[in-house]
Amino acid sequence: MRIEREIEIRASSAIAEALGVESAAMIRPTQNEAHGDYQVNGLLPLAKRLGKPPRELAQPVAEVLKKDAMFSAAEVAGPGFINLRLHPRWVSEQTCAMIADRARLGVPRAEPSQRVVVDYSSPNVAKQMHVGHLRSTILGDALCRMLRFVGHEVVADNHLGDWGTQFGLLIVGMRRWGDEAALQASPIDELERVYRLASAEAKQNETFAEEARHELAKLQEGDANNRAIWQRFVAATRESLEGVYRRLDVHFDVWMGESAYHDMLPGVVQELLERGLARLDEGAVCVFFSEQDAAPAELKRLETPFIIRKKDGAYLYSTSDIATLFYRRDTWNTQRAIYVVDVRQSLHFQQLFALAELLGLSMRLEHVGFGTILGGDGKPLKTRDGGTVTLSSLLDEAEERARARIGEQGLEIAPEALDEAARIIGIGAVKYADLRQNRLSDYRFDWDKMISFQGNAGPYLQYAYARLSSIFRKGEIDVEALWTGASQQGSFELEDHAETQALAKHLLRFADLLHQATESLQPHLVCDHLYQLARLFSAFYEACPILKAEGGLRHSRLSLAALAGAQLRLGLSLLGIGVVERM
Ligand code: ARG
Repeated sequence: MRIEREIEIRASSAIAEALGVESAAMIRPTQNEAHGDYQVNGLLPLAKRLGKPPRELAQPVAEVLKKDAMFSAAEVAGPGFINLRLHPRWVSEQTCAMIADRARLGVPRAEPSQRVVVDYSSPNVAKQMHVGHLRSTILGDALCRMLRFVGHEVVADNHLGDWGTQFGLLIVGMRRWGDEAALQASPIDELERVYRLASAEAKQNETFAEEARHELAKLQEGDANNRAIWQRFVAATRESLEGVYRRLDVHFDVWMGESAYHDMLPGVVQELLERGLARLDEGAVCVFFSEQDAAPAELKRLETPFIIRKKDGAYLYSTSDIATLFYRRDTWNTQRAIYVVDVRQSLHFQQLFALAELLGLSMRLEHVGFGTILGGDGKPLKTRDGGTVTLSSLLDEAEERARARIGEQGLEIAPEALDEAARIIGIGAVKYADLRQNRLSDYRFDWDKMISFQGNAGPYLQYAYARLSSIFRKGEIDVEALWTGASQQGSFELEDHAETQALAKHLLRFADLLHQATESLQPHLVCDHLYQLARLFSAFYEACPILKAEGGLRHSRLSLAALAGAQLRLGLSLLGIGVVERM
């Protein structure tokens, strides 16, 4: 159940009953739990509307809410809001209901379900995937998982950069400097080596540059030979990417790179010209937002022209992104498209979305931007010798460090389970460190904070989960029976004890939280919730011993623990992070 919604409904009807007016109640969790659990805020604007003192309006509404079995207290506070406290009996019932709903733990599906495309990872062909694409990959994957869980139909799309000027350079470069054996053995390294040589050469040798442009044009016109060479570059890159995605447990429904839209590009430019949205400017075709009469003021502020065809006839990143919009609308009936791309591409997306509006595309478009990963020196992360950090070397290091920390911490992991545990903990730590940030900020990559069994870090949460699981093992508890038993009404009553109530109420907020995080595309809200969960659980566990308790008390504490474990595990899985049962 989404509690805030439920309270909203009840409080709105209390307003109607007490005051005889229709008005939204506006619910928020209280800042300070000493005052209650939720707050009704809607009376302040209502008082303004009616020209009455807000506290005077709030009092009779609070009286109605006091009679509702959901609350144990409803008190007017401050300038005229109402603080509500959930009734312990209601908390018990809802906790039971969450356990009974084993697959979804009480999280309702979004209505209506939408068709959502998530465009993420999207690295460039013939290049190593570097840390810049790590954030897109991790964030995009978490968003896909969250969106799917709340009930949307998601198309996870890897929009590879596989169609730029680099291919002309690579084709002539390979001819001149290519080493077939090296290309076989380690294709991306070889492609990067040749690319460096070729782009340097093109800068100082016009004939070479001309040759590269010629080969690019041939490729784009469909020349069989060049297509075959390009295919090889793409296939080799894809193989190496797939290795990284496998380690990260990241999956795509489609891989539709820029090349997939090539044939649509002339039509796109044509259409924009015909509709008067673009015009020729010194040989190039551009959209000038400041010239669009119909455009709202904020579009006019986009002064920089959006170039969609260069003077030499070449198409751009922008052109293929416009074609992609049409494709996604027509092929998948997309209602919402989410682009998980570095915040430095903001202008590109503002222009693209502004154009979509001018085109009348009724799709909700969002740029999920993110900041840069910094090294210890506060500058973009680099290797010791100043090179770019590749993703696979970073993941290797994460696993190694996790293995070392497992040893230092003296965790009990069987030798045969060590590799798998180091992988789950190391990769989980990297993902969590990224996801817990407010995505728009840059953050410092700090191995020690990241791979930590204390504080707000992935391993701490995984450890909390493992400790929780061990309770059931130690007590030889039939967990299945706990789950199935909960579906019987009133199968337990939680004690009215501060730590127990605090934990239960936190667990009850999961549905609201998940819907809010998914709506606002902010996985860090899920991280915060889970971190808080782990802390509240350990406070509860200290105050309320589980296995030493008896009878009904033991049963209710065990049930609450089972729910906490399940929610922690589910929450982590929605972030793409695994758990280890024993450590
Ligand atoms: N390949 C691009 C890059 O590496 C990202 C593409 C993002 N997706 C998009 N539809 N523009 O910067």
